[in-house]
Amino acid sequence: MGRVALVTGGTRGIGAEISVALKEEGYVVAANYAGNDEAAAKFMAETGIKAFKWSVADYDACVDGLKHVEDHLGPVEVLVNNAGITRDAPFHKMTPQQWNEVIATNLTGVFNMTHPVWPGMRERKFGRVVTISSINGQKGQFGQANYAASKAGDLGFTRTLAQEGARYNITVNAVCPGYIATDMVMAVPEKVREAIIAQIPVGRLGEAAEIARCVTFLVSDDAGFITGSTISANGGQYFA
Ligand code: CAA
Repeated sequence: MGRVALVTGGTRGIGAEISVALKEEGYVVAANYAGNDEAAAKFMAETGIKAFKWSVADYDACVDGLKHVEDHLGPVEVLVNNAGITRDAPFHKMTPQQWNEVIATNLTGVFNMTHPVWPGMRERKFGRVVTISSINGQKGQFGQANYAASKAGDLGFTRTLAQEGARYNITVNAVCPGYIATDMVMAVPEKVREAIIAQIPVGRLGEAAEIARCVTFLVSDDAGFITGSTISANGGQYFA
């Protein structure tokens, strides 16, 4: 049996591609999701990957959810913090609710999920944590003060845990996708999206599978010397 990998937000978009890619690499995958039962049922039927429902924004739910996954599949050795949301608005219009929801999922959610997984990784002296940040956490983005702050926070978190995990053979890395052809990017108004694509030197949106390949590499044994790093996969739009 392969290692157990838990992917948050793992039934749709980039997360679904990561779940499938890890399964193809031989991992036993648990795909977490928060809300969309229909998409999760479809994902399970199509991939045979088990989906588990809880919100990463809720610490106690993460503790219970992890226990549930581990009771079913065994200790989680690979954690992919992928779950993320947007609530875009120019700052002068941004509400405290829009700010809090994004921070709760994209930043606190990474704490909530990594914290209960961490002691087992330390005890077993092996772990792989990959967090999906964003190009917009590196460069900022008009309309995304909340999202950019959360994704920049994910990078500080990653660099700190890399130092704390190193002696336990736990690597902690981040991937910063650029604009990828997912529901999240398709929700951006068409005109804005066209303007964004014009800023991408390769001239297209990225594919979710292109992000999944970064993750399968970072969690592999071959990547054991890579920790605290960020892979930017953005078609040349921004060099961090
Ligand atoms: N730079 C400068 N000005 C900009 C701008 C930009 N990038 N984008 C919009 N504006 C300007 C507009 O031209 C407009 O100006 P005027 O009032 O002079 O016409 C003004 O800002 C729009 O202001 P509004 O108050 O009308 O804004 P709005 O309430 O309609 O909201 C928005 C606009 C929500 C920010 C919208 O522009 C938007 O959705 N932008 C895209 C944000 C984005 O890139 N989100 C990424 C989502 S995908 C993702 O997050 C995944 C990932 O990791 C990459």
